[in-house]
Amino acid sequence: MKILVTGAAGFIGSHAALALTGRGHHVLGVDSLNDYYDPALKESRLARLSGQPLFEFEKLDIAEDAALGALMTKYAPDRVLHLAAQAGVRYSIENPMAYARSNLLGHLSVLEAARHTSSVRHLTYASSSSVYGERDDAPFRETDPVETPMSLYAATKRADELMSATYCRLYGLAQTGLRFFTVYGPWGRPDMAYWLFTKAILAGEPIKVFNDGNMERDFTYVDDVIRTVVKIVEAGAETGTHTLYNIGGSDPRPLKDFIAAIEKAVGRKAEKIMLPMQPGDVTRTSADVSALARDFDYAATTRIEDGVQAFVDWYQAYFKA
Ligand SMILES: NC(=O)c1ccc[n+]([C@@H]2O[C@H](COP(=O)([O-])OP(=O)(O)OC[C@H]3O[C@@H](n4cnc5c(N)ncnc54)[C@H](O)[C@@H]3O)[C@@H](O)[C@H]2O)c1
Repeated sequence: MKILVTGAAGFIGSHAALALTGRGHHVLGVDSLNDYYDPALKESRLARLSGQPLFEFEKLDIAEDAALGALMTKYAPDRVLHLAAQAGVRYSIENPMAYARSNLLGHLSVLEAARHTSSVRHLTYASSSSVYGERDDAPFRETDPVETPMSLYAATKRADELMSATYCRLYGLAQTGLRFFTVYGPWGRPDMAYWLFTKAILAGEPIKVFNDGNMERDFTYVDDVIRTVVKIVEAGAETGTHTLYNIGGSDPRPLKDFIAAIEKAVGRKAEKIMLPMQPGDVTRTSADVSALARDFDYAATTRIEDGVQAFVDWYQAYFKA
């Protein structure tokens, strides 16, 4: 199959592109290589892919709708895996327009390009657990109300789901939206807490712990995610269907457990600075994954302790730390 992957130089996108080429698919990766975090990491992820004869890359901002449309028409993919976005909850407080460009304009531009490219049979795209907002009742189900986002990031991801539902209704474009829950692992994202904690502990610096550590996250190891993303892309879906799935570890753990796993992997205790809750954050995420388990045999099999060890091993090798 020919698959266009947006955000291919990103954390999840680069893992997905590697897995898809490994399955014999031809992948055209698209990414703007923006500097939200160090573009050198994005280049290193692409370098891993450059040895793959089935991988091609095009540097492009997906919000450039005419250019994306022309590229999609020329490549004529069977499937699109759309992972490019402005990620991060906290950054959306200071840089709201980056979210409007990549997540609203960018998502619409991908939808437009896909609906005008007759070869495209299915689009898989990234949503987020953040659409659930702040809530006490857990686990979160796909049928739960999602009308109270706590950050602009969450609001743009919910808007993406609504735009996708509309394109399915209007044009029959078959789609699957994935609500990712705190994905972590090797080649991860430098703005995420597990990366910041590992970096600080290794450097002997204190870590900042928000809401006095009273947070619970449904951490999800990247390999568990990728296995299922590949299945969804390969399976496609019937024309005229739009399905949303949670994809999470389904084992929510207090932040202190995650910190303890990092301390153990690094072999050093963290000095903690306790801080209040950050605007935009939620205290808890928790995924009900029964729909994904039923339809795609999904199961998160990686224990946090093992996943964190794999991340810390990678981090130390990558940075020679
Ligand atoms: N990692 C997680 O825990 C998590 C959780 C929920 C949702 N998600 C979603 O999953 C997707 C992948 O996330 P990730 O963690 O790999 O993030 P990432 O930032 O590592 O990857 C996103 C990639 O998209 C690219 N990009 C951003 N705007 C672009 C644009 N306008 N045009 C072209 N490329 C652009 C970036 O350069 C980056 O390489 C995103 O949609 C994100 O919102 C991730």
